[in-house]
Amino acid sequence: MARADYKNAIIYQIYPKSFMDANHDGIGDLRGIINKLDYLKNLGINTLWLNPIFVSPQVDNGYDVSNYYAIDGKMGTIEEFDQLIKAAHQRKLKIILDLVLNHTSDQHPWFQDAIKNPKSIYREYYLWAKGQNGHLPNNWASFFGGSVWEADPCQPNNYYFHLFDKRMPDLNWKCPEVRQAMVNIAKFWLSHGVDGFRLDAFIHLAKADFNQDFPAHGKKEPVIAEPFYANLPQVRTYLREFVHQLRLIKPDLLILGEAASADIDLTAAYTNPQDELCDTVVTFRYFESLTEQADKRLPKELQSLPLDFGHLKEVMATWQKNLENISYLTLYWNNHDMPRVLEKVGINYRSQPTIAKMLATLMYLQRGIPCIYYGEEIGMQNLSYDQIDALHDEQAKKAWQAAVDQQMSANKALELICRSHKMAARGVMQWDASKYNGFSDVKPWNFGHNTAVNVHDELVNDQSVLQYYRRLLKLKKQQLFVDGKITLENTNDDLYVYRRTLKNQTAIVICNLTHQAQQYQLQQPADDILLQNGRITLAQDLITLSAYGSLVIKVN
Ligand code: GLC
Ligand code: CA
Repeated sequence: MARADYKNAIIYQIYPKSFMDANHDGIGDLRGIINKLDYLKNLGINTLWLNPIFVSPQVDNGYDVSNYYAIDGKMGTIEEFDQLIKAAHQRKLKIILDLVLNHTSDQHPWFQDAIKNPKSIYREYYLWAKGQNGHLPNNWASFFGGSVWEADPCQPNNYYFHLFDKRMPDLNWKCPEVRQAMVNIAKFWLSHGVDGFRLDAFIHLAKADFNQDFPAHGKKEPVIAEPFYANLPQVRTYLREFVHQLRLIKPDLLILGEAASADIDLTAAYTNPQDELCDTVVTFRYFESLTEQADKRLPKELQSLPLDFGHLKEVMATWQKNLENISYLTLYWNNHDMPRVLEKVGINYRSQPTIAKMLATLMYLQRGIPCIYYGEEIGMQNLSYDQIDALHDEQAKKAWQAAVDQQMSANKALELICRSHKMAARGVMQWDASKYNGFSDVKPWNFGHNTAVNVHDELVNDQSVLQYYRRLLKLKKQQLFVDGKITLENTNDDLYVYRRTLKNQTAIVICNLTHQAQQYQLQQPADDILLQNGRITLAQDLITLSAYGSLVIKVN
């Protein structure tokens, strides 16, 4: 893919620990991925994004890297990695790796040296600050709870900075050696044939002056201080230098940035093709939940509240318009940091295949790059667990206890949390109906109850979600759905409708967001039905779609 060609990417996100276990230890591995490449090829994707596979103590499932130059032993070996690249490329599948630039593991030799030796050259690699009159350097909060500051084991009244877990110290990007070290790591993996990178949390590379508190409105505990550690202008300088050096080696490199809090203007800046930053970014701004439906006893983030489709429609309309001459949006419903989307649609309906198909139609035929999260293509949902401890998340456990203390039943609290938690969205791929879903023959690392969908059954059922995804992705490859102009229609909240136009071709995508039949009047005569989901009737250009149905139709 040449640079301008990234628009043709159809990305499939693999969470390697949960995809396929080939060596019987309950943890997914590279060999498992190799074994499933034909499945992926037949699905119709062309690019794989692997969540981190480097050596890691697994405090944050691989996002805490202790050696960037080696594959984690549980995942496989460098030889297997080379085989994976080769086997993928033989099938014309690209591979992009998740690169963690913002922090390392505390077990990384740089950090270990830095905390053992006050004269270490690696002190420069991390961020430190002195305590203020017996207090922490400032009141900024970590995304994983508590302060961003943790005591420096090496020097009294001194602290190191961690935006995520305290075992994940942030790197100091002001330090030229850090910047060069990261370029060298990326070059090493390019030399092993990777086609690009997903840049983890890159928007946090620059930090404001530590010598200031964030307005706390009377709160004593640390507060999230995004303006001081997200999207600072210096981020772009660092990123530009990084990407530039890599593009000198591989001009058609694909850069998918994770920019969780980026709004339209930042997304435009991060993906401006005149600049050398990302090709496309994943923002979390598309999705908002209907929070008035929340139970006050649990934090809203721990409840899978229904999606606000009205909000999504508005956001998409404006984002598509503003970015149409700049870049292509990333189109996705799921990733490893959020509950699976089916948890966010009508609770009584979420296991209906029609909903999964409608959501895919709605999202992926828009202008942009589909990013499909493993298992989504068979309609996988979050796992549920028997005990809160099975989630392995301290914050969730505290919130569960607080809800129980406020008279919520223990089961109800657990159920709500399971439906909203990212760990429950990382269940093992459901290959078949056997005890461990054909993922492994021993108990998987992340084990819970799941819903009865699997690849084996869906492959032989022409009406399955999986077969629908195959048809959908085939359609997506038509130039009309890549290059065509997109216009979202301003319909009522029951429908999501858009048209794609290219030269003299027009297709209309119509999605019913409700569990009742809905109608839509075409303004132009219907030509050809390209894809259909649910029961559809067409009488004098009046279309009736059954509950959660969708239709892609060409018009004259
Ligand atoms: C990103 C990852 C997330 C991880 C964090 C820290 O947001 O997507 O899973 O916890 O970075 O690396
Ligand atoms: Ca394994």
